[in-house]
Amino acid sequence: MKTISILAHGGPEVLRSVDIELPQPGPGEVRIRHTAIGLNYSDINVRNGGFYLGDGPAFPIVLGNEAAGVVESVGADVEGFEAGERVAYAGTGGLFFENTGAYAQERNLPASCLVKLPPDISDRQAAAMLLKGLTASVIVNRCFRPAPGDTVLIHAAASGVGSILAQWCKHLGATVIGTVGSQEKAVFAAAHGCAHTILYREEDFVAATRRLAPQGVCAVFDGVGKDTFVQSFDCARPFAALVNYGNASGPVPPFNLMLLAQKGCLALYRPGFGFHANTPETRTAACNELFDLVRCGALRIGIDAAYPLQDAAQAHRAAEERRTMGSVVLIP
Ligand SMILES: NC(=O)c1ccc[n+]([C@@H]2O[C@H](COP(=O)([O-])OP(=O)(O)OC[C@H]3O[C@@H](n4cnc5c(N)ncnc54)[C@H](OP(=O)(O)O)[C@@H]3O)[C@@H](O)[C@H]2O)c1
Repeated sequence: MKTISILAHGGPEVLRSVDIELPQPGPGEVRIRHTAIGLNYSDINVRNGGFYLGDGPAFPIVLGNEAAGVVESVGADVEGFEAGERVAYAGTGGLFFENTGAYAQERNLPASCLVKLPPDISDRQAAAMLLKGLTASVIVNRCFRPAPGDTVLIHAAASGVGSILAQWCKHLGATVIGTVGSQEKAVFAAAHGCAHTILYREEDFVAATRRLAPQGVCAVFDGVGKDTFVQSFDCARPFAALVNYGNASGPVPPFNLMLLAQKGCLALYRPGFGFHANTPETRTAACNELFDLVRCGALRIGIDAAYPLQDAAQAHRAAEERRTMGSVVLIP
């Protein structure tokens, strides 16, 4: 069974094709044949090293936290799943989802982390949207839910998570200002929820946001981190919500908590999707909400590219070099 694994941390060149022997699924486990695997920025963080608060898993590490596929067989004591069913998952355990292993043709997983796929959601859509959509879900459902009339600032609005968040906020009636790294991404972001875009590599995004929202924005949603988060405090109106959910440019540098008071009594959130939908019931409910948003046309899942799993290094390079828009999937 072919996997894409790492035996050391490093650049995309450390990704290796490694064959492993997959045992029969154990009690409570289901064997899945993957048909589409989601690429997430966290895969790059794990590959580079330094992602986990502790030591992280031991090498070799099969990367990946998200995939869709078909149930091949079920272990003892599994109820509710049978061979041939279409399923998907995002994250399979550990505080930071240390239990990776999606970059593989097949995998055994606890049945408790699977979601059944409805017929109108394709495998590629599921692999492209589950983890990123659940991240948007924790933000919108637990941190700050925009209301009609609100203006929000979303950094990297053409990214996988950013483009889902922007559409969801628009659907809730908010005006979305999105920062983007290129003109091409500005066009993509405008087609995926943004009323305004700011080319933040060319223009001061604080001044541009203040021009668009002179009173300040109600919320900042930021997956970029180091290059944007603390500066964004100056975009916020009093009592706004600041949500940092990722560090694509590096970790947010330490800052004095008093800054939040000085900048207008701002609220700070650092969510992770794993605390939001971490039981079969809450996960199924959160996924069904996402599927409904796709069904009603509120969410369009932009799939920028589908790479053969064997070309995962190429996909990593594209994502790390900021060349992708929306989601990227790997096909085993
Ligand atoms: N908290 C959670 O549970 C959770 C879950 C999923 C993802 N995340 C985080 O959310 C963020 C977005 O994830 P994603 O999968 O949607 O990523 P993605 O589609 O690969 O997008 C990342 C984007 O970040 C922007 N960026 C800014 N500075 C960058 C830099 N120095 N290097 C690379 N990219 C940079 C780029 O957009 P521009 O070119 O427009 O600047 C890039 O395309 C990541 O930080 C990820 O770790 C968090």
